[in-house]
Amino acid sequence: MNYPSRVKIIDVGPRDGLQNEKQPVPTEVKLGLIQRLEDAGLKEIEVTSFVSPKWVPQMADNAQVMHGLRRKPGVRYSVLTPNMKGFEAAVAAPREEWPDEIVVFGAASEAFSQKNINCSIAESIERFAPVVAAAREKGIAVRGAMSCTVGCPYEGEIAPERVRMLAGLMKDIGVERVDVADTIGVGTPRKVQAALEATLAHFGVDHISGHFHDTYGQALANTLASLELGVWNFQSSSAGLGGCPYAKGATGNVATEDVVYLLQGMGIETGIDLDKLIDAGAYISEALGRKPASRAATAILNKRAA
Ligand code: HMG
Ligand code: MG
Repeated sequence: MNYPSRVKIIDVGPRDGLQNEKQPVPTEVKLGLIQRLEDAGLKEIEVTSFVSPKWVPQMADNAQVMHGLRRKPGVRYSVLTPNMKGFEAAVAAPREEWPDEIVVFGAASEAFSQKNINCSIAESIERFAPVVAAAREKGIAVRGAMSCTVGCPYEGEIAPERVRMLAGLMKDIGVERVDVADTIGVGTPRKVQAALEATLAHFGVDHISGHFHDTYGQALANTLASLELGVWNFQSSSAGLGGCPYAKGATGNVATEDVVYLLQGMGIETGIDLDKLIDAGAYISEALGRKPASRAATAILNKRAA
């Protein structure tokens, strides 16, 4: 099997990971996590979202997070912006505090679109279009997240055709690259490959990333299945943090530590220092009062303690 020789990981822990936390997480702690991820060699970090604080209270400190970033050169900082209001808030600060990339987030499931962003898929595209145009006009990159590309908590299994349609709509409005997300972690390798192949109808393989939640323990298998198709961009959360407040029961993203362990073992370059990554995961886990949800981190921390 011909696997890609290198992989880029976007750590989405500070956003996807923390958005679902019930306990308050101080901005300082979020910044501490981001800094440790930078130190570990992450080149892309999804740091916050400009969504309604009524819907996702944990991200209400978005402007403070952007203000507090120390901005390591060569690192891309992205944020979620669901509409013009969110985009305008993201660029209300001085230019040096703008995100490098914004993410519009749609769903392949009509029901999930309604629950998550309170509008239909068609309406979401109408809302995203001016956001994408405004971002590109300002020289900000644009990514599109596609939720529920394999299964939906409300509609059940999602046909690849729905993913193909959504990817086409994203492409039409000028989205530059897309995330194929298994929001509730129900996917298995062939189904994930079908969702990726549907996306490949509109985006080149270099512009597609895999975003897998590990609810059913399939995320690493799905990562490997994606590598088989040549996909080399992935999203994960340090310490396996996370879940979406509008996808009940879904657990966190696949742990970045586990993905990096897998890739290192396969001789695939990531540019990430696993030991420092373990430190980042241990830091946020301790702040949250729990153990990292990462098998590799647990094994390595046990070894360190011995
Ligand atoms: P809405 O209620 O339909 O919006 O929410 P609206 O335009 O009718 O406005 C209602 C109120 O919200 C108004 O305030 C607006 O100003 C305010 P009021 O007049 O009542 O005081 N508002 C905003 N405030 C702050 N920032 C904004 C904003 N927009 C409106 N951007 C909205 C629509 C999209 C805002 C809402 O549904 C929302 O915030 N949803 C958040 C969804 C979310 O963050 N979900 C989690 C992230 S997605 C995810 O995790 C999946 C992903 O990881 C991939 C995967 O795994 O699948 C990406
Ligand atoms: Mg997610």
